[in-house]
Amino acid sequence: QITPVILAGGSGTRLWPLSRKSYPKQFVPLLGETTLFRSAARRLSGESEQFAFARPLVLTNSLFRFIIAEQLALENIDPAAILIEPEGRNTAPAILAAALHLLTSDPDAVMLVAPSDHVVPDVAAFHAAVGKGLTAARDGDLVTFGIRPTRPETGYGYLEAAAKPDGSGQPIKLASFVEKPNAARAEEMLATGNYLWNAGIFLFAAKDLVAAFERHAPAIFAAVRAAVEQAESDLGFLRLAAEPWSQADNIAIDYAIMERAENLSVVPYDSEWSDLGGWDAVWSHSQPDEEGVALSGSATAIDCRDTLLRSESEGLEIVGLGLNNIVAVAMNDAVLIADKSRTQDVKLVVEALQRKG
Ligand code: GDD
Ligand code: MG
Repeated sequence: QITPVILAGGSGTRLWPLSRKSYPKQFVPLLGETTLFRSAARRLSGESEQFAFARPLVLTNSLFRFIIAEQLALENIDPAAILIEPEGRNTAPAILAAALHLLTSDPDAVMLVAPSDHVVPDVAAFHAAVGKGLTAARDGDLVTFGIRPTRPETGYGYLEAAAKPDGSGQPIKLASFVEKPNAARAEEMLATGNYLWNAGIFLFAAKDLVAAFERHAPAIFAAVRAAVEQAESDLGFLRLAAEPWSQADNIAIDYAIMERAENLSVVPYDSEWSDLGGWDAVWSHSQPDEEGVALSGSATAIDCRDTLLRSESEGLEIVGLGLNNIVAVAMNDAVLIADKSRTQDVKLVVEALQRKG
């Protein structure tokens, strides 16, 4: 059995104004009817030929806990636990808390850590990849999933495989892990052909992750262990203890552990994957027509190219005329109009609005 550990604490600022602090992108219907969180929960349930998923553990904060309980219920999924982080400390403390919690009931627990905001259309291919990583994880590796890179992206982690993927999809040892390189380094890594992007999905035995923290991040280990030991049940949720939790460094697992650990391997993943990291990615997953126009809600495009027009407001019509490479998203209370090649900078918009108060 594999226990899914679903990360659902991020705020997704690059998809403002649809993604909001109190209702981020993973919980809203972004592509089609359902939400990314519901799709993730479904993808991480049931069984495949090689393994069965146990009930999931979900990691989040107080703000999202009822949304999560409601969306899991819509999928008929009964979580093993919903862990509440008193404050966001990024993914390292959160994933360690999940591992320590799992170890209290099963010393051999194997966990699949997955974000709730990714698009992974081919569920069977995804399950097959997880199945391929299982032996390596049981043998003590921290298993990553590698995507073939197509551009020198600086927003991803890079996985250096110790050998060329042979097409079998079997796990390969990692020579190194480089989180979010600068542009020059990203160009270099792309050119060598030995690197894959880190999909942000991890498979390992809970005890191996805990051992990695004890070795590479002992201060986080001490803080999170106390926060888990002193956790309290709260209306069916498990609330981590705030005081020790606040002592844990605010750091991503990629920096805290993956860049430092030596027992890493990668399962190459060749099917479609996207982290929908911006409106340009939403545009390309919204079935643009031959002109590259994608519409959603009450939207009309006249003589437009490579443009996304989206109305999220009942009765509000959005019309584009002669636009090229534009993203426009209209909500009841805010409208974003952006150059599609600048959509990575939408987080700057959110910061600017926060400063305005
Ligand atoms: N519960 C919880 N608490 N979840 C969190 C927190 C937190 O404090 N912070 C982030 N998350 C969730 C996010 O919502 C997301 O689903 C996931 O954890 C990863 O965090 P991101 O902030 O989106 O990371 P990233 O996209 O910059 O980088 C990671 O993912 C890339 C692929 O999408 C890294 O693993 C990269 O190496 C990787 O390439
Ligand atoms: Mg992300």
